[in-house]
Amino acid sequence: MQILDGKKAAQSIKDELKLEVAQLVNDGKKAPHLAAILVGTNGASETYVASKVKSCAEVGFKSTLIRFEEEISEMKLLDTIEELNNDPDVDGILVQLPLPAHISEEEVINTIDPEKDVDGFHPANVGKMVQGLPSFVAATPYGIMLLLQHYKIDTKGKHAIVIGRSNIVGRPMSILLSSNTNPGNCTVTICHSQTKNLRELCLQGDIIIAALGRADFVRADMVKEGAVVIDVGITRVEDASKKSGFRLKGDVDFENVAPKCAYITPVPGGVGPMTIAALLKNTFRSCAMKNYE
Ligand code: GUN
Repeated sequence: MQILDGKKAAQSIKDELKLEVAQLVNDGKKAPHLAAILVGTNGASETYVASKVKSCAEVGFKSTLIRFEEEISEMKLLDTIEELNNDPDVDGILVQLPLPAHISEEEVINTIDPEKDVDGFHPANVGKMVQGLPSFVAATPYGIMLLLQHYKIDTKGKHAIVIGRSNIVGRPMSILLSSNTNPGNCTVTICHSQTKNLRELCLQGDIIIAALGRADFVRADMVKEGAVVIDVGITRVEDASKKSGFRLKGDVDFENVAPKCAYITPVPGGVGPMTIAALLKNTFRSCAMKNYE
């Protein structure tokens, strides 16, 4: 069994980006600039956005964090996005989800200029991704593809089981894994809350992507010997021994599943850091594309 070390793989991507940014700046071009919008005080969102901003600094990107109170109107948020759309210095715009219930996530996503949509959530980018055209691909599935690539995992002809059908992870993941690319060329089954015989399906999986958001859901009796298991889950569970009062748990019962696997991602230190590396790559690409216009 080999651990897929997302922290290490993400670091090597960040090291490469850092050199590329230095080269851009050396050529008299501007550094990439990511603008992140955070609404409210959701603890998990605060942590993710802080990591994104910190990672920007590590690779030499400029970042702007715009914070709004929970009560901000949808109109004000949309106006702010428009301002960022029109700001030539901004290459990437990210609105951290989830948003408060009174704001339409769909409206927000649709307002972001697709050319600055480094989260890859805009329908224009999703459509292009489905067609296999160049696009911004959502950071979590893109990060998983980069991790499979980093470890040179052979995915061709393999049966991938994707558990979860969210727009952010499950759906785009299923498209990418089935694409005629490397990694890719998998036969993909998407499973969800209404799936019958989930255990039997998982047992057929050469690759399992667990992205349903339920701690320890994937048990050892659901996984075949030699499988590749990618754990997207990050559920906070109470842990009085931790300073924060919680620890992170994946969707996979790591302790019992890991001995059966050829490869498995840990939580934390697996998919999470790769998601950030993927977001940085998208932001760099957005900036670089402008330089060629
Ligand atoms: N919330 C959970 N994952 C993501 C993500 O990748 N991007 C944004 N903007 N919000 C999220």
